[in-house]
Amino acid sequence: MKKPRLKFQAPTGTRDLLPEDLAYYKKIYSLAEEYAQFYGFKRIEPPILEDYELFLKSTGATTDIVEKQMYILKTKGGEILALRPEFTPSLARSYFENGMISWPHPVKLYTRGPLFRYEKPQAGRYRQFHQINFEIFGSKKPIAEIEIIWIFLKILEKLGIKKIVVEINSIGDSQCRPYYKKILTRYLKHNQHLLCATCKRRLKKNPLRVLDCKEIKCQKVIKEAPQIIDYLCEECHDHFEKVLEYLEALQIPYNLNPYLVRGLDYYTKTVFEIILEKNLQKRQNALAGGGRYDGLLRLIGKQDIPAAGVAGGVERIIEVLKDNNISFEEEQKREAKVLIAQLGDEAKIESLKLIEEFWRAKIPVEFLLTKDSLTNQLKIANRKKIKYVVIIGKEEVIKKASILRDMETGKQESIQREKLVKEIKKLLKKNK
Ligand code: HAM
Repeated sequence: MKKPRLKFQAPTGTRDLLPEDLAYYKKIYSLAEEYAQFYGFKRIEPPILEDYELFLKSTGATTDIVEKQMYILKTKGGEILALRPEFTPSLARSYFENGMISWPHPVKLYTRGPLFRYEKPQAGRYRQFHQINFEIFGSKKPIAEIEIIWIFLKILEKLGIKKIVVEINSIGDSQCRPYYKKILTRYLKHNQHLLCATCKRRLKKNPLRVLDCKEIKCQKVIKEAPQIIDYLCEECHDHFEKVLEYLEALQIPYNLNPYLVRGLDYYTKTVFEIILEKNLQKRQNALAGGGRYDGLLRLIGKQDIPAAGVAGGVERIIEVLKDNNISFEEEQKREAKVLIAQLGDEAKIESLKLIEEFWRAKIPVEFLLTKDSLTNQLKIANRKKIKYVVIIGKEEVIKKASILRDMETGKQESIQREKLVKEIKKLLKKNK
C-alpha cells in the first residue's frame, strides 16, 4: 500500500535516525572515541553554526562546498552564519580562540557530529550527514599523515570492514604548485573544446579541480594531462616519498592516483581518500578523506602551524556495514529478565521507586506503567518470555511487600520489598 503523503516530512536529504540506525552510530562513535583517547586526541565540540566567512576563507571561495552547498542564514542581529559543512576550519578557529597554541604540541583533536551540505541527495550523499574527524596541529612530519590514516584504517578493521585502499597523491605547496598550475592551465586551454561545461568554468577559477572530473569526455583529456608529481619541489617530493615509504613499511595497500586533488582549497602536499577496493571506480565512494594543510592556520590565526587531518563519513561506513550484513543491535540489547507488574495508583508510584532500585543495581527491567490490567501485564511478560514478574498491588504497598512470580513454573512467593532486588540478583546469578 502506498503511504499517504504527510504534510510535514523531514527536509530533502535529511532523515530521522531510528533506534536500529543509532546502534550503528553508537558503535562507530565509541570505537572512534576509544582510538582518539588511546592515541592522545582530545575531543572538542565546535558549534554547528559558524561565521560564514570562516568557510569562505578556508574551505575556499571557488570550491563546490562554498559556491553551492552551504546553508547560509542571516541572524536578526545581521550576522551571516553558516551551518558547518565540514569540521576542519572550525577546529582551526578553535585552536587559536582557545589558546591551544600554548598547549604541548602537536595538538591532536577529535570531533564528531552532524554537518550540512546542500547537495543532490543520492546514495552516500546526504544534506545532513555525520563525520568522525581527527586533526593534528603543529607537525610538518610525514608521520602525522600516516598516524591519522593508520587510526582510520584500524577503526574500519575493528568494525569488520575489509579490503580497503588508500588513494593518495601530493598536490605540492605554494613553492611548486603555482608553476604546475600554469603548465596545467596551458594544456587544458589547448583542449578546452573537449571539456564539459563545468570543467570549462573550473578551468578559469580552479584548474586543478578539472583533474577530479568523472565525465568520460574530460577523462580523455585528463589522462594526457601533465601530472603534478613531476613538478613537485624538492621538499614536497621528499615529503611524499617518505609518506609512501611509511605506507609500504606498514603494508598499507595504497594506490597512487595522480588525479586526486580533493575538493577543498586548503590542502598542501599529501591528499588521500580511503576507499573500499571494489568501489575504486565509483563516484561517491570515499569512506574518508583528508590530507595535509600547512597553509590553513595562517589564514585563520596569522601563525604558521602545519597540520594534517582526516574525516570519515559515518553514513558511508554504515552503508558498507549493512552491505556486509554487519550489525550491532544485538550487542546493545540488554534483554530484561524481570517485569514489574502493578495494580492501582499507589502501586504505580511504588513501581517507579522500585525501577530506580533496579537501575542502581544495574538489572534491566521491563514495566508497563500505562497498563491497568494485571492479566494484560502478565500476558506481555509471557509473550516476551520474561522469567520473573514482580507484582505490586494495593496490599503489597501497605505491607511493604511484593509478589515474585516465576513465569516458567507458575510459583509465587511474597518477598519483603527491601529484600526484593537482592533476592532477584541472587536468582539471576543462579540462572546464568
Ligand atoms: P570531505 O572529503 O569533504 O573532507 O569529507 C570527508 C568524508 O565525509 C567523505 O569522504 C565522505 O565519507 C563524507 N561525506 C562528505 N560529504 C558527504 C555527504 N554529503 N553525505 C554523506 N557523507 C559525506 C572533509 O570534510 C575534510 N574536512 C576532511 C579533512 C579533515 N581534511 C583534513 N582534515
